[in-house]
Amino acid sequence: MKIIVTGGAGFIGSNFIFYERKKHPEDEILCVDSLTYAGNLSTLEPVMNDSEFKFFKLDIRDRDGIYKLFENEKPDIVVNFAAESHVDRSIENPTIFLETNIIGTSVLMDACRKYGIKRYHQVSTDEVYGDLPLDRPDLFFHEDTPIHTSSPYSTSKASADLLVMAYHRTYGLPVTLSRCSNNYGPYQFPEKLIPLMIANALADKPLPVYGEGKNVRDWLYVEDHCKAIDLIIRNAKDGETYNIGGHNEMANIDIVKLICDYLDKPYSLIEHVEDRKGHDQRYAIDPTKIHNDLGWLPETAFADGIKKTIQWYLDNKKWWQDIISGDYMNYYEKMYSHRKVLD
Ligand code: NAD
Ligand code: TYD
Repeated sequence: MKIIVTGGAGFIGSNFIFYERKKHPEDEILCVDSLTYAGNLSTLEPVMNDSEFKFFKLDIRDRDGIYKLFENEKPDIVVNFAAESHVDRSIENPTIFLETNIIGTSVLMDACRKYGIKRYHQVSTDEVYGDLPLDRPDLFFHEDTPIHTSSPYSTSKASADLLVMAYHRTYGLPVTLSRCSNNYGPYQFPEKLIPLMIANALADKPLPVYGEGKNVRDWLYVEDHCKAIDLIIRNAKDGETYNIGGHNEMANIDIVKLICDYLDKPYSLIEHVEDRKGHDQRYAIDPTKIHNDLGWLPETAFADGIKKTIQWYLDNKKWWQDIISGDYMNYYEKMYSHRKVLD
């Protein structure tokens, strides 16, 4: 089997490539990534010399380049991770989110139609369902929960989801779709909550918590997400959508305190800053369908996963310090210097 993995130099895509290389070493993996600020070729070093792995520096919006790749390689499966993925950046500049997340997805699916494919899988997010109120812990996102987005990021992902289902219905493209909750683990770019707080805490820098920090996310260890996608692309029926999440809801402030505890840093580093615009309150996934249909269950408890993750950032300082010593500092300055510190 030949599998194209787009966005494989990013956080979840790279973890998925490592998972596939171990679980199905007989399959060939072709990684397509344009290496935006979020893509890092050094992440893929462990597989770069494998005979069953190839890397293509290619933009999913580049129709000619993508068609040529499909013509030459004739893939069996495409798993699309490539995306602009950070909500705060989408608030600053929505356009690139629409271009990559929607147009890029359509280019990939057009290539699938033109050259034929066994399966196109779209990696989506629980953020397409909008948010749930904090005072209704009985409510969860189900696969038939209406799409109701908040940010330019989630709206671009929801638009792509609708397009994927339209290609299935209109052209009979064999698609599947998964919507996962917040991931954490190795190789996550330090703009996202958990690695940002680890990096700042290690440098004794302020830990910028948006608002009161009561917003809730449903955290899943990245390898559990990869396992779910692997099950879907190999076993699910065409046209199916699966929610993926591990019933692990935590308020942001509790995550930040936990990171302080593990790193033996004082809570006085925590700084409550001006809230994110349109900030979603709570995400919570009901994963019953993927459990019943495909037998998926998360394997990593949060207490173990967060310990492993923090240890990974301690053991791999060069990986993230290289990142934060470059353009990231300009980003940090732009995004955080204007945020008012709350009393
Ligand atoms: P990431 O930002 O770490 O990685 C994205 C990768 O895509 C990078 O390697 C980047 O270079 C590449 N890319 C961006 N634009 C591209 C383009 N036009 N052409 C080719 N490559 C391009 O993102 P991530 O956190 O690994 O997320 C991967 C996917 O999973 C995204 O589709 C995201 O919406 C989805 N998702 C993420 C989470 C999460 O918690 N991180 C949760 C649910 C779903
Ligand atoms: P993030 O990792 O950006 O993921 P998402 O917005 O896709 O859920 O943020 C997770 C939560 O942490 C979210 O409620 C926003 C909050 N947050 C902070 O409080 N401070 C920060 O510096 C960042 C990046 C996020």
